[in-house]
Amino acid sequence: MSSETHPGMSGREAAALDALLSARYSCRAYRPERVSRELVERALRMAQQTPSWCNTQPWRVHVASGASRDALIRRLHDTASAETPIRPDFPFPEAYEGVFRDRRKVCGVQLYQSLGIGREDRQRAREQSLENFRAFGAPHMAIVTTEGALGPYGLLDCGLYLMSVMLAFRALGVDCIAQAALASYPDLVRAHFGLPETRRVVCGLSFGYAEPEAAINGYRTERAGIDEVIEWSE
Ligand SMILES: Cc1cc2nc3c(=O)[nH]c(=O)nc-3n(C[C@H](O)[C@H](O)[C@H](O)COP(=O)(O)O)c2cc1C
Repeated sequence: MSSETHPGMSGREAAALDALLSARYSCRAYRPERVSRELVERALRMAQQTPSWCNTQPWRVHVASGASRDALIRRLHDTASAETPIRPDFPFPEAYEGVFRDRRKVCGVQLYQSLGIGREDRQRAREQSLENFRAFGAPHMAIVTTEGALGPYGLLDCGLYLMSVMLAFRALGVDCIAQAALASYPDLVRAHFGLPETRRVVCGLSFGYAEPEAAINGYRTERAGIDEVIEWSE
């Protein structure tokens, strides 16, 4: 049975999801206007439909705006600027080899080229990298946490949740970026939001409305074809 004839699946829904997935991108320059709390709640209500292991729903999302956002940024930016060693709750990748190295490189080149940062300009590259800890100017910084005892599958559930939030935001005209960088100093994040040690920091998600003129928002990343993904076995 083709997807076009499957009951409950209309061509319109598939096209809408396809468009949504294609339209989402990581926004790295924002206008200062805040997103209304109603709109954020609407997106998060949609994202609550995310499935999870045994329906545990381990995610919590801690949203910093206004003075709270400014204070969090100050702490994170000061800490990162001082080259404090990172101590993420979930270890960052140890190495990027082969195709992963290639893709990571292209990703960096696109970003730096959009800003006219040359290969040798380590100082500007470093400054740009520190923009992570300013949430790229987004008026809101969200941190997604899981419960440590739920282990890697709690983390996986939170990854699914993160994507649901990103798509819901896109559908509502809100721009965002997932930021593992904001998970670099989890103790600082826990202290800021008053979280217990058991809450593990998964990822940041900065959001707001894109600055359309910004060159850094002007490029789009590529994806491998599905022939590089699927292995059929019959
Ligand atoms: C879990 C996760 C963590 C990420 N962390 C960062 C980050 O710390 N800083 C950053 O600039 N981009 C970060 N990104 C954005 C990726 O670089 C981006 O998703 C990828 O290059 C694909 O581009 P696109 O989102 O524009 O489609 C992250 C994305 C994901 C999914």
